[in-house]
Amino acid sequence: MKTVAGETASWKRDFPVRWDDDRRVTRREFGRFLAFASLGMALATALTALVPWLRRPARRAARRIGAVADVRVGGYRLFRYPTEHDPAILLRLAESRFVAYSQLCTHLSCPVHPSQDRRQLVCPCHHGIFAADDGRVLGGPPQRALPRIALSVKDGEVWAEETAA
Ligand code: FES
Repeated sequence: MKTVAGETASWKRDFPVRWDDDRRVTRREFGRFLAFASLGMALATALTALVPWLRRPARRAARRIGAVADVRVGGYRLFRYPTEHDPAILLRLAESRFVAYSQLCTHLSCPVHPSQDRRQLVCPCHHGIFAADDGRVLGGPPQRALPRIALSVKDGEVWAEETAA
């Protein structure tokens, strides 16, 4: 580009552009690029959504928690279920009444602990309170009951069978 005085502008001298090297992108090429990019993002989103489903355990095996005699009435025992990374708690509410829950508070996953009288499970983080009877929320910020673990008693042993809710 020539200036009024007939000199080439300094930016043109420093950064010359060869127009025949410049490549135009047609509307069709740009549309194809958008289509492939959208398809790639859709596939990535679908894979991300499928990962938890693909990694789920095939079937949750029953796990022995302990002997009935080892947990006194009003006592509790900590265990892991369904995997070694999932803390859970077994409560013996009466002679023949056991209940078990995930130990992770449904608010922000702090571990819950039995209250002094064992009638409640208390979360120390934000004072969430759950009923020991059925895991329902009695107070604090949690909105959902504690996930319950189905139990069975066979030959004097307590077994975790399945996460019920
Ligand atoms: S984490 Fe339990 S009440 Fe907030």
